Amino acid sequence: MTTDSKTAWIEQEIATLKEQGLFTNIRTIESAMDGWVTINGKRVLNFCANNYLGLANHPTLREAAKNAIDQYGIGPGAVRTIAGTMSLHVELEKRLAEFKGVEAAITLQSGFTANLATIPALVGKGDVIFSDRLNHASIIDGCRLSRADIVAYEHNDPADLRRKIQETKLDGRALIVTDGVFSMDGDIAPLPELYEVANEFGHLLMVDDAHGEGVLGRGGRGIVDHFGLHGKVDIEVGTMSKAFGVVGGVVAGKQVIVDWLRQRGRPFLFSSAMTVPDVAACLAGVDLLEQSTEQVDRLWSNAETFKNALREMGFDTGHSQTPIVPVMLGEAPLAQQFSRRLFEEGVFAMAIGYPTVPQGKARIRVMNTAAHSPQDLEKGLAAFEAVGKELGVL
Ligand SMILES: Cc1ncc(COP(=O)(O)O)c(C=O)c1O
Repeated sequence: MTTDSKTAWIEQEIATLKEQGLFTNIRTIESAMDGWVTINGKRVLNFCANNYLGLANHPTLREAAKNAIDQYGIGPGAVRTIAGTMSLHVELEKRLAEFKGVEAAITLQSGFTANLATIPALVGKGDVIFSDRLNHASIIDGCRLSRADIVAYEHNDPADLRRKIQETKLDGRALIVTDGVFSMDGDIAPLPELYEVANEFGHLLMVDDAHGEGVLGRGGRGIVDHFGLHGKVDIEVGTMSKAFGVVGGVVAGKQVIVDWLRQRGRPFLFSSAMTVPDVAACLAGVDLLEQSTEQVDRLWSNAETFKNALREMGFDTGHSQTPIVPVMLGEAPLAQQFSRRLFEEGVFAMAIGYPTVPQGKARIRVMNTAAHSPQDLEKGLAAFEAVGKELGVL
């Protein structure tokens, strides 16, 4: 068999994606990540990064990373359980646990690996996972890796969860898992009601707070704080790659669960630790959030302004309750065309299509941040209005 014939199917798949408007053209950012970025030599307003608080290029975090490199170097040189645990990792875990009001925390390389570490460590063959139908891919993959049976319940529907639990024969353990803020729609999981169900049946409850960290709760302490559910949610998974503007994953909760993940979380055991500058920048991020709510407040004020204005123009912004604002457009080619036209108007906002969202639910996903000024918001809104009218969406 020639190489060509072995890979011909991939060429075919890619051609089909292009025909369907589902092929992702990846933009290259030529500047620091911020409210404005440079792409193809052009300065554009950035409405699609998860850099909620504008920390990705914050001077305090940059300084902390540089100082840490001078003191500790760059790479950890090993997995955490061999020689990769540095005092900085231990300090970050302690600070994150305090910040979130839990007994303990463990850091991983990313939010994705945090889910892959946690779910298979808690449930396995013969156990059952009850998972929200719209959960993030990293939760889905964690569930699959665990080899437990997966029962999907209807999105944000505690009554359906209860029904599904009652209908499911259970011989082993059970885990209920949900996104905290759903990343493509910006709606919030009904965590108090999910807790009621988890508590009724004595099942473990886990929330992935990737988009709630630094966004929801007092000073950005996350969804558990937002709902006042401290001590009731067993596991909070989070990421340092969004509001904290760095990279890294975290699992927070009871000491015993964190102790267990240090023994059985496979990405913790078999993949090297977070790097020195990342950890140091995250520590500086925790300091900032503990000192002031300024960034979190600005994020919410910007998001409310932008979302309300889009709605008043007549855009369908779905069920967003957070700074993630989907501008629903329907078919993927329209969303791609919308995104291209926005870019020509100096606004960077990516189209999202299948498989990230269901077929026929393509959208522009607007990510508001604290890094935008009132003038930025006005410019962005003007571009949305102009393109919306031009393409017959408004
Ligand atoms: C809900 C959710 N969980 C986990 C992740 C993965 O986080 P990370 O980028 O840190 O791997 C994401 C990021 O897209 C997410 O949206």
